[in-house]
Amino acid sequence: MCVWSGDGDEMADGGLERGVHMIETRGLRKSFRSRAGRETKTVEAVRGVDLDVSAGEIFGFLGPNGAGKTTTLRMLATLIEPDGGQATIAGADLLKDPGEVRRRIGYVAQGGSTWDESTAREELVLQARMYGIAKAEAQRRAARALEAFQLTEFADRKCKTYSGGQRRRVEIALGIIHEPKIVFLDEPTTGLDPQSRAHMWDEIRRLRTDGMTVFITTHYLDEADALCDRIAIMDHGEVVAEGTPTDLKREISGDVVQVGLDPVAAGEVAKLLDGEEYVNRLETLDEGGLRLFVDDGATAIPRILRRIDGAGLDLRSIELHRPSLDDVFLTKTGRSLRES
Ligand SMILES: Nc1ncnc2c1ncn2[C@@H]1O[C@H](COP(=O)(O)OP(=O)(O)OP(=O)(O)O)[C@@H](O)[C@H]1O
Ligand SMILES: [Mg+2]
Repeated sequence: MCVWSGDGDEMADGGLERGVHMIETRGLRKSFRSRAGRETKTVEAVRGVDLDVSAGEIFGFLGPNGAGKTTTLRMLATLIEPDGGQATIAGADLLKDPGEVRRRIGYVAQGGSTWDESTAREELVLQARMYGIAKAEAQRRAARALEAFQLTEFADRKCKTYSGGQRRRVEIALGIIHEPKIVFLDEPTTGLDPQSRAHMWDEIRRLRTDGMTVFITTHYLDEADALCDRIAIMDHGEVVAEGTPTDLKREISGDVVQVGLDPVAAGEVAKLLDGEEYVNRLETLDEGGLRLFVDDGATAIPRILRRIDGAGLDLRSIELHRPSLDDVFLTKTGRSLRES
């Protein structure tokens, strides 16, 4: 069943179809001025972002706090005006025709938007009505959304009685009640328990199955890895890497050996191992320890252990793993996303 099929007029408005870009941005920028006492500070929140998102994909924006994810999303959703750059969203020009962009997209904010005292059904009907949908159709859509998001059971209870996961599902249903071509979800799973997160991933995958393009932000590495078809890694307002999670990880060939050491010992070991021919790259971790990029972990580990032992240094732990998205982030930025 195609619950969120859109209105079937893809070819009529801009020739959009699967494989064509649903979102295209070039050089998108945004700075904020803030005042602290007498001083005015400028924060370059987004510094020239180029993105191409295809129709029907789940695209993820991964990055630490303050990377510029929400600011980018708010620009794409017409909530704030860019300082510079261009974007086309679902075939409409962001700067010249923001009204049309707004009609074609859904947006679910990081903080959420449900009202304590109303029920999920009331919220959904009201939201549909605000998009100009007639009452009977609004009620039909609300019922369908409640079913699709497994909310029917508590549809007529006040939102304040819902769990975090149930409430987040209502918010997402609100964001797509008008059947947009694209939905922007800002951190859809932050604060949810593992089971609710897994549920939410299923809901998001279902939106894709039903033909929607989904743009999410997250700072969860596992979420970006498991859920997204493609991701852009953002740091300090810039996209530092982009691709499928598999391709990004494949760029880092070999294995990763993580060595747990206190910060002083880490410095010593870094000096010892820096020149070793089997160590392709070495990163010092802020919380103590080192991450070593090697061709073959199984043969590197005994050699690393001998060097540490030989220097009389205290080893806390040693782990071997395949490169993760965190290693991609580390390689691109010199920092671990886990620590950021
Ligand atoms: N209205 C504003 N006024 C001043 N500075 C702002 C404003 N909005 C965002 N910023 C700053 O812009 C930068 C990017 O913020 P943004 O909210 O886009 O980050 P984010 O990647 O969404 O982070 P998080 O993961 O914490 O949600 C931050 O340094 C933030 O403090
Ligand atoms: Mg944010």
